[in-house]
Order: sequence, then C-alpha cells, then structure tokens
Amino acid sequence: MNFKDYIRIIPDFPQPGIRFKDITTLINNGPVYCAVIDALKQAVADKQIDLIAGPEARGFIVGAPLAVALGVGFVPIRKSGKLPGEVVEADYDLEYGKDKLAIHKDAIQPGQRVLIADDLLATGGTIATTLNLIDQLGGQVIGAAFLIELGYLDGRSKLGDLDIFSLMTY
Ligand code: PRP
Repeated sequence: MNFKDYIRIIPDFPQPGIRFKDITTLINNGPVYCAVIDALKQAVADKQIDLIAGPEARGFIVGAPLAVALGVGFVPIRKSGKLPGEVVEADYDLEYGKDKLAIHKDAIQPGQRVLIADDLLATGGTIATTLNLIDQLGGQVIGAAFLIELGYLDGRSKLGDLDIFSLMTY
C-alpha cells in the first residue's frame, strides 16, 4: 500500500505558495487509516512507551489511535486557553503564523517515557515547543512519530538528536 496515494495535495492553502498535504482523504478510508496507525505502532513497538503526547488538532488524529493501539495513555497538547486545569505554556512559531501551546501540569510524571505523535513535521516549531513542555514536567521524550515529514523544511535540525520516524517524506 502506497500511503502517499491517499494524501490530497491542495495548492495555495492556506496561503499562496503552500502545497497543503491534506490527510482527511487518508483517514476517510478505514483500512488505510488502520494501516498507517499499525505501521506507526510497529515502528515504535520496542520503545517501552508510557504515554503518547499529541499537539492539537491533527496530532490527536494520529496520537490517540496510536495510544489505544499501544495500550498507553494519551496527553493532549492544546492551544492556549483550552485546557481546564493548571497548565504550563510555551510560545511557538508555525510554518504560517504564531501561537501558544499548553499542557496540564499533572499530565506527565517525572521520568515517564513519552512518544510525541503528530500528522506532520514541517518547520519543527510545534515539536520543539512540545519537547519544551514535556521537559518542563520532567518527562523523558523517547522519540517522535509522524505520518508526513516535509524534508525540504528541515524540521529535524530544530530537534537535536531526537529519534524521529516518518511514514512519508516529501
Ligand atoms: C500543523 C500540523 C503540525 C504542525 C507542523 O498543525 O498538524 O502540528 O502544523 O508544523 P511545524 O513543524 O512547522 O510546527 P497546525 O498548527 O496547523 O494546527 P492543526 O493541527 O490544528 O491544524
């Protein structure tokens, strides 16, 4: 199965010049959605993961089913103002914009082994900020898993020696 066949490219969204990688066409297909989650599961199966953390919103689409498949908990990383409990927050830059991310202070215990999951690694800003948040709570990030990596934006260079797995690269 070639997963790229199920990604729809939308030119000039959300800004002129950006070729948006639309995963809705992939997750609309049950067997393909199951297959990508299974492929991510196989890729991280030996990592002794305690928790999956995923950034809003598309990180939930990948991270939550992966957590269920692995039988571990899921930690939502949300945009500022959405989480009801005590949070820590950090600013971040997007490929096209700026925002703040937040995590519940009690979501991760010191030393827990956390895998970050998201649909897309672009500039790496979202994941760098997610790493910062998990680090503030004392969690140990043991890797990051993505459906798609935009290699030409070189997000990896922002992420030090983080162990990164991507199912598809453009
Ligand atoms: C997208 C995507 C990643 C991030 C990747 O999310 O889902 O989280 O951008 O870009 P980066 O590597 O340059 O940080 P977005 O912030 O657009 O939010 P959404 O998931 O709510 O659409």
